[in-house]
Amino acid sequence: MDTRIDLRSDTVSKPSERMRNAMATAEVGDDWYGDDPTVNELQDRVADLTGKAAAIYLPTGTMCNQVAMHAFVRAGHFVICEATAHAGRTEVNSAAVLSGIAFRYVAAPSRGLLTAGQVAVALEPDHYDVSVVDLVTIENTHQVGGGSVLNVAGVRDIAAACAARNVPLYMDGARIFNACAVEGVPVSDYAGPVTALMFCLSKGLGAPIGSVLAGEVEFIREARRLKVLFGGAWRQAGIMAAAGLIALVDGPQRLHEDHANARALAAGVADLLPGSVDVNEVETNIVFADVSTTGHSAQEWASVLAAEGVLVTMVGGRIRMLTHVGIGAADIQVALAAWHRAAKVIG
Ligand SMILES: Cc1ncc(COP(=O)(O)O)c(C=O)c1O
Repeated sequence: MDTRIDLRSDTVSKPSERMRNAMATAEVGDDWYGDDPTVNELQDRVADLTGKAAAIYLPTGTMCNQVAMHAFVRAGHFVICEATAHAGRTEVNSAAVLSGIAFRYVAAPSRGLLTAGQVAVALEPDHYDVSVVDLVTIENTHQVGGGSVLNVAGVRDIAAACAARNVPLYMDGARIFNACAVEGVPVSDYAGPVTALMFCLSKGLGAPIGSVLAGEVEFIREARRLKVLFGGAWRQAGIMAAAGLIALVDGPQRLHEDHANARALAAGVADLLPGSVDVNEVETNIVFADVSTTGHSAQEWASVLAAEGVLVTMVGGRIRMLTHVGIGAADIQVALAAWHRAAKVIG
């Protein structure tokens, strides 16, 4: 049995018994032909939940973002996104190769949260009529921002700024259900103001694979063409979609546990290394620790923590830890004990 505490991402969780059973008995067809009943059920369910006209099930969040950007943005035109957004940074090379897209980065005043005012300024037409913006994207919750939550009013304000320039608004909602849990709103409240959105079943919701893109009928029709074009026609995908359907029921209702565990983790690390974590900024399931004041790098800490049985990642020179369905409150105490041992080793 694996005794490590794996905090590298919320993607590392294993499927539940209920998911495995549903996968074993799933009715399947060939999704290329659109006749996998379980995939179709998942897509209908997501359209229903988000209030969008249609949805499409794709293998990854990255593919959702790439398909959406390809559909909305002409090669050589711009996408406005926050300066550290996944779609514009981690995926910058994918967007370059697949779609010839350029990004206009806007640094948010705090924690990755763009404001409507910033978007309005970024959308002002180019005086020389050379640069054209085809899309604005927002990320919610914002990963590098520390799992920060943009509330529904904030999304509506940004949508109004986009509507004023007739530019569509896309939401990378990889972890939108974490935002819903914090704000106490249904996902349709977040989906309503945006032109299209995606969310991942494979992150906080606990499914092994899969993300869903939702929007207007013609957009989803084009997304299906692009899914095939990009090699994502995954045949009897109903086996995975069956787990996704369970994730939609079981996932959202327990996210508050991940958030409480993240706060406990943050508080423990802040106690050990004062100033490394601002506990008040931990709203969801992501904790960043700035260990630079210890005189040792994030890489050194990550190696020693791994030796002590706790796996973390490094992002932008900081330690990143995510809570998820595979981590209970007791695991947080085990992880914190490892942090204390690591501090002694590092000296
Ligand atoms: C905010 C955000 N968007 C998109 C993605 C991409 O999702 P995937 O790993 O399923 O491709 C990630 C992955 O971590 C993410 O954090």
